[in-house]
Amino acid sequence: MVLALTLTFVHSLTLRSDTEALQALRRSIDPNMIPPSSYISSWDFSADPCDSTGAKFLGILCSNPGDNSTNRIISIELDSAGYDGFLTHNIGNLTELTSLDLSRNQFRGPLPDTLKNLKKLTQISLSGNFFTGGIAGWIDGLRNVESIDLSENLLSGPIPPRISELRRLTHISFSNNEFSGRIPDINGLWKLQTLDLGSNMFVGNLPKLPTKLRSLTLSHNQLSGHITSLGSLKELRYIDLSDNKFTGSITRSILSLPELNQLNVSFNQLASIEVNTHLGSGSPLQVLNAQRNRLQGHLPVSLVNFENLQEINLAYNGLTGRVPVAYGQRLGRPWKSLFLDDNFLSGRIPRQFNSSALRISGSLANNCLSCPVTIPICGGGQRPASACIGEIGNH
Ligand SMILES: *[C@@H]1O[C@H](CO)[C@@H](O)[C@H](O)[C@H]1NC(C)=O
Ligand SMILES: *[C@@H]1O[C@H](CO)[C@@H](O)[C@H](O)[C@H]1NC(C)=O
Ligand SMILES: *[C@@H]1O[C@H](CO)[C@@H](O)[C@H](O)[C@H]1NC(C)=O
Ligand SMILES: *[C@@H]1O[C@H](CO)[C@@H](O)[C@H](O)[C@H]1NC(C)=O
Repeated sequence: MVLALTLTFVHSLTLRSDTEALQALRRSIDPNMIPPSSYISSWDFSADPCDSTGAKFLGILCSNPGDNSTNRIISIELDSAGYDGFLTHNIGNLTELTSLDLSRNQFRGPLPDTLKNLKKLTQISLSGNFFTGGIAGWIDGLRNVESIDLSENLLSGPIPPRISELRRLTHISFSNNEFSGRIPDINGLWKLQTLDLGSNMFVGNLPKLPTKLRSLTLSHNQLSGHITSLGSLKELRYIDLSDNKFTGSITRSILSLPELNQLNVSFNQLASIEVNTHLGSGSPLQVLNAQRNRLQGHLPVSLVNFENLQEINLAYNGLTGRVPVAYGQRLGRPWKSLFLDDNFLSGRIPRQFNSSALRISGSLANNCLSCPVTIPICGGGQRPASACIGEIGNH
């Protein structure tokens, strides 16, 4: 039995066009950029790729032949050896491929449309290269793809709406590219958990997003409109919308998302934050960053009800009124960081802010407070009285 299996293995051969695709892949890399101990330097075509010992053809996995004596390549996961080259059109001949990882190398040029033939691909990572051009010619062919990571390249153009047909997707990362246009509605991607489109050039409103989403990163784009719709995505744990042009309100429904751990809406044009007394209890929220918006009104007293909150940043807004006395009891436990600088807060500060035992980073500078600079958190001083007219007498 053992002998029979061994014989089958020895005589099985890699499908010829699969071997040719590997040869073409190597040929399209500058030979000077294939370091001696790298995976690709182990590719020795005097042997058969799938019929070699583990010392040859590193980075390649093959299917078990079973009844069929022809082996197929099912996985290419290269090392980050600095390979500098193009991705060959022949990649599309590897129709049994389930995993392709070329991340953290120096591949460049456009991605070939033949990628659309890789119907069995479940994982593709091309992150950290210099790929250029668009993705519309191939991406919707990846019918079984679960995870796509194209981050940190020079890719451009729109995300084709047909991406919403790739229903197995759980993970999309297109961050740090030059993608543009509107983000298509992808609420059909019901398995999607992670969407990272940060640091691109997307415009327009928030798209319709899938309800299973856990992590949403849209930072550093030019998105606009309201963010209210996020309040219905109950699985969200992480939201980063920073550095866009969102307007309107940080709504109650967002702040009461049952799993939300971090909310970063800094560097937008949001006008209000809706925290009321019913909110907070049991919330896992740890980080609230809404600095550099256009928030008006008083500081929300009910922030003290968020038992897990540790970092609060509401700096550079138009907030007025007093620092709530209740904030004093939260300092240091659990609040570790409180930035309220560059607003128009006025009046006295709660006495706990002047405690030598206080272990907190933060600032109350550039307000209209009575905040002696001898107290560390008051360092930097306050606005001149002329900038505070109308604030001081407000209460
Ligand atoms: C054997 O594999 C080849 C290449 O994948 C395929 O074309 C052929 O149909 C297979 N034959 C059988 C009997 O599975
Ligand atoms: C492999 O891919 C190349 C380029 O896309 C194509 O010209 C060739 O016909 C393919 N070979 C096979 C056997 O499918
Ligand atoms: C929030 O966003 C800003 C701007 O993009 C960034 O500097 C900051 O590190 C982010 N994270 C937190 C936890 O505030
Ligand atoms: C702050 O506390 C120190 C020591 O407890 C005290 O001497 C000082 O007067 C206080 N300063 C203010 C402004 O309350």
